[in-house]
Amino acid sequence: MSSKIRIAVLHGPNLNLLGTREPEIYGKETLSDINSRLVDLGEVLGVEVTTFQSNHEGVLIDCLHALRTTHHAVIINPGGLTHTSVALRDALAGISLPVYEVHLSNVHAREEFRHHSYISGIAVGVICGLGAQGYEFALKAAVTKLAGSK
Ligand code: DQA
Repeated sequence: MSSKIRIAVLHGPNLNLLGTREPEIYGKETLSDINSRLVDLGEVLGVEVTTFQSNHEGVLIDCLHALRTTHHAVIINPGGLTHTSVALRDALAGISLPVYEVHLSNVHAREEFRHHSYISGIAVGVICGLGAQGYEFALKAAVTKLAGSK
């Protein structure tokens, strides 16, 4: 692996619909708007940002297993799997990479079933309610931490 820091940004189920999906909750930006801003920010910060979205739990898990040897940190918005998936949590814990959990909406101000996250317990940090900017804050935090540990 080259010495360039590589950070993966994963988006879970239904996030491909951003822009048209409940825009009053999730905003009007599309996933590709968000991803291209993250790739640009990565360039500014001197890291490589890879983005990936799937609506399927197993595909996300396979993707995480593959990232284990190629990437240095994972930023993930697990979507609804946040509140249901032990398997996704196990995959994130199992790959031994720092994990940053991001939610566009403030899940704690919404329905009670969104208040619990299977992911937060193994995450370095959690950002929610700040819209798409949350991914950018997570990226900056991940880079700062990785640069400090180099
Ligand atoms: C979400 C919050 C989840 O509760 C929901 O199921 C999503 C999106 C967010 O980004 O706010 O799909 O993760």
